[in-house]
Amino acid sequence: MNKLISFWGKGGVGKTTLSIALTKLLAKEGFRTLYISTDIVPKNTQTFKNIENFETVFLSENEVRNLWKKRFGKEVYSVISSFLPVGEEIIDYIAGAPGISDEFSIYYIWEIWRNDTYDVIVWDTMAAGGSIRLLELESEFYSHLGEASKLYLKIKSSLESLKRKKDKDPLKLIEEWRELAKSLLSFLSSDAHDVYVVANPDSFSYGITTYLFQEFSFFGIRPKKLFLNKVISENVCQGCPALEEEKEKQRKWSTYLGEFSAQNGIEMCEIPYISGKADGDEIVEIVSESIKSCLSSSL
Ligand SMILES: Nc1ncnc2c1ncn2[C@@H]1O[C@H](COP(=O)(O)OP(=O)(O)O)[C@@H](O)[C@H]1O
Ligand SMILES: [Mg+2]
Repeated sequence: MNKLISFWGKGGVGKTTLSIALTKLLAKEGFRTLYISTDIVPKNTQTFKNIENFETVFLSENEVRNLWKKRFGKEVYSVISSFLPVGEEIIDYIAGAPGISDEFSIYYIWEIWRNDTYDVIVWDTMAAGGSIRLLELESEFYSHLGEASKLYLKIKSSLESLKRKKDKDPLKLIEEWRELAKSLLSFLSSDAHDVYVVANPDSFSYGITTYLFQEFSFFGIRPKKLFLNKVISENVCQGCPALEEEKEKQRKWSTYLGEFSAQNGIEMCEIPYISGKADGDEIVEIVSESIKSCLSSSL
């Protein structure tokens, strides 16, 4: 098996909890499993106490930018400097552009996946969740770079000076980047990638969920499951007014999300809200059991 499983959803819904729980589950089953977090605001470090049976990668924004510079810095410089009088500081400027780190996280994960070292890579994604669209922008950005250099070539007729350069032909490089962006998109929409969306039964999470499904469908990606996390169960605490009230509020959004997933032909799986004094690790353990029963058919 060589699979990528990614968790999407707004901050706080339980992406990290569910991805750690699933990673543990898979590792216990004997799968070679890697957990990758690209959420640049890691919270709840408690969750990571007992992680001896699987490997973890926590990518910070800075690390991602440095990796990007290492992989693409020189190429980008060689292209841009072929038609603009810029110094190498342009690399830092571009590495700092919004979206670069999200995009590059995807590239980085793709590289690990291609090495086939793991049966399953569990990817705890960034909170924003709209980053897939950036790949499309990236491919357009490279096209524009191509246009700009073509225009320059026309005006200056400097084809000769370009040819004399030792570096690769900039237009070829731009084409390669566009191909790369396309390959990443087709990897993400392939059978090797399972998208799991996480939601909570509330209005904001409902909004984000429908938005995420739209984004995915734009790229031909069909989420595999909708995890409805933190569902207050019927018998959670009789006579706790606050929880009773919250449960009442949840009912409406649970129904909406249930209908929404049914419309999309995707199974929704409910994960109970763990009340009491459970810490992150304990929550992971309990959640693990629910995930197991949800996924018993698909793993
Ligand atoms: N089913 C659950 N019941 C109770 N608390 C939960 C549950 N799932 C997650 N939590 C808690 O909610 C908080 C946010 O969860 P987390 O997994 O960090 O979300 P995300 O990664 O989406 O931001 C954490 O404190 C976590 O322990
Ligand atoms: Mg998280």
